[in-house]
Amino acid sequence: MVTVDQRALPHQLRWLRITTVDELIDAITSLAIRGAPALGVSGAFGVALAALAHAGDTEKVQLEAARIASARPTAANLNWGVQRAVAKLPQGAQAVLDEALEMLAEAGRVDRAAASHAADLVLRLCRRRPLRVLTHCNTGRLATAGFGTALGALQVLHARAAIGEVLVAETRPLLQGARLTTWELREAGIPHRLTIDSAAAWAMADGQVDCVIVGADRISADGSVANKIGTYGLALAAHHHRIPFIVVAPESTRDLATTHGRDIVVEQRAAAEITQLGGVATAPADTAVFNPAFDVTPPELVTAVVTENGVVGAANHSVAGEIPQIARELYARGWMPGSAGNISVRTGQTALITGSGLSKGELTTRDLVTVTVADSQQLSGAVPPSAETPVHTAIYRATDAQAVVHVHPPHATTQSIDAPAVLRFSGYELIKGLAANETVAVPVFTNHAEIGRIGADIERYLIGHPDTPPVLFIAGHGITAWGASLAQARDRAECLEAICELVTLTGRREISTHPKNSRRH
Ligand code: MRU
Repeated sequence: MVTVDQRALPHQLRWLRITTVDELIDAITSLAIRGAPALGVSGAFGVALAALAHAGDTEKVQLEAARIASARPTAANLNWGVQRAVAKLPQGAQAVLDEALEMLAEAGRVDRAAASHAADLVLRLCRRRPLRVLTHCNTGRLATAGFGTALGALQVLHARAAIGEVLVAETRPLLQGARLTTWELREAGIPHRLTIDSAAAWAMADGQVDCVIVGADRISADGSVANKIGTYGLALAAHHHRIPFIVVAPESTRDLATTHGRDIVVEQRAAAEITQLGGVATAPADTAVFNPAFDVTPPELVTAVVTENGVVGAANHSVAGEIPQIARELYARGWMPGSAGNISVRTGQTALITGSGLSKGELTTRDLVTVTVADSQQLSGAVPPSAETPVHTAIYRATDAQAVVHVHPPHATTQSIDAPAVLRFSGYELIKGLAANETVAVPVFTNHAEIGRIGADIERYLIGHPDTPPVLFIAGHGITAWGASLAQARDRAECLEAICELVTLTGRREISTHPKNSRRH
């Protein structure tokens, strides 16, 4: 096989001819070949080399395949590519080679699809034009053997005349950003500036970044993203500054067999990568180092993972299963009649919410939709999100809620009809279930036809009343409860309904209205 030697760039465009498995492993470990998708394709060619060298000796080829697959442990694609090629072994060496060639051809198609979905998403999420996008490491055609993932998305955005500038993080210690991404961006004619990794957070604080786009080496089932060291810090900073953080990767980078990010193996690399720069010592000899090649960003810091199939669907999210379960429970109780009521769970900068107009008695994870917390935009899902999405996202923006339940139980709904701005309840033991003691003051919001207005009222009120209980009424409409989990939000909705039932039974409607303001919010 012949490939670009990525170690020589940007000084020299040198080609590397690889004829043995040993040469391939050396190229992979020394980063002549690097980037998760490119590793996948190369791994398949490596198996083809082994199959040609040891024709008929399946056991030997499998041992060679295992050696290739373990050359770099973090990139999911390497083992994926090797296994795809190994599966063709029974059909002979030519079939293995054909499979590797097919994967090479596929890489371009897969990248272009992922890049174009990611570009669509960025244009929807970021209003400013032209865009200033920050990227890390190298995710272009060098890294993928195709068109590029995150850098592919930048190419698509550039073709759509949407890019003002790309800010390239140099990517210590091996400078994939400085050496390779700038080289690819220059080739593509995309305006860019290089910066040191430690300037990235400041660039965000300084308003120079509209969006962060990166690739991935492995994405576990919970949506954790392993990528080049420094990615996690960028995600933290982006989260703090409310900047979308988008991950673009092929499906082959997703590893659903690994449940949690904490289970991802992070490659540790040689000390010399840190103690030297270009062969010159930059630290005392024998200094001990911590040199992880990757870090793992938790899903709550990731706005969206985009693959060739689009934004990774809500159904794949680890918490997705809880929503239909609680929805069925509440439906069975009669609190979600017809298609009424909606439920959501916060997933970092996004939320999973029930689709619009669906019976909650038959809900499945396929009926869930991902929306942005910042502005309720739909990111994925086959159906539109609940019309009441703005109510949910307002609560996520104003509180630390992780789950929201909106239901229509009969007693609470009755109490909210013609109610004043605040309904106060006291003297009920159940108040404790609303995280209150003696008295609880539950706000009642006007049921505007335009839901966005209700959301805005709720957000304003909750920000102005940080001690308000985790429940609210929308007049004549229903109740909304939130908490650290769906179960807690459901329990709180149950307590409010039970209090309202006692009020109905005892005839002690609300105890008093809000002293200062009897008009509804
Ligand atoms: O050590 P590297 O250069 O192989 O690390 C590569 C990265 O972290 C890339 O961001 C990732 O592989 C995605 S490449 C499309």
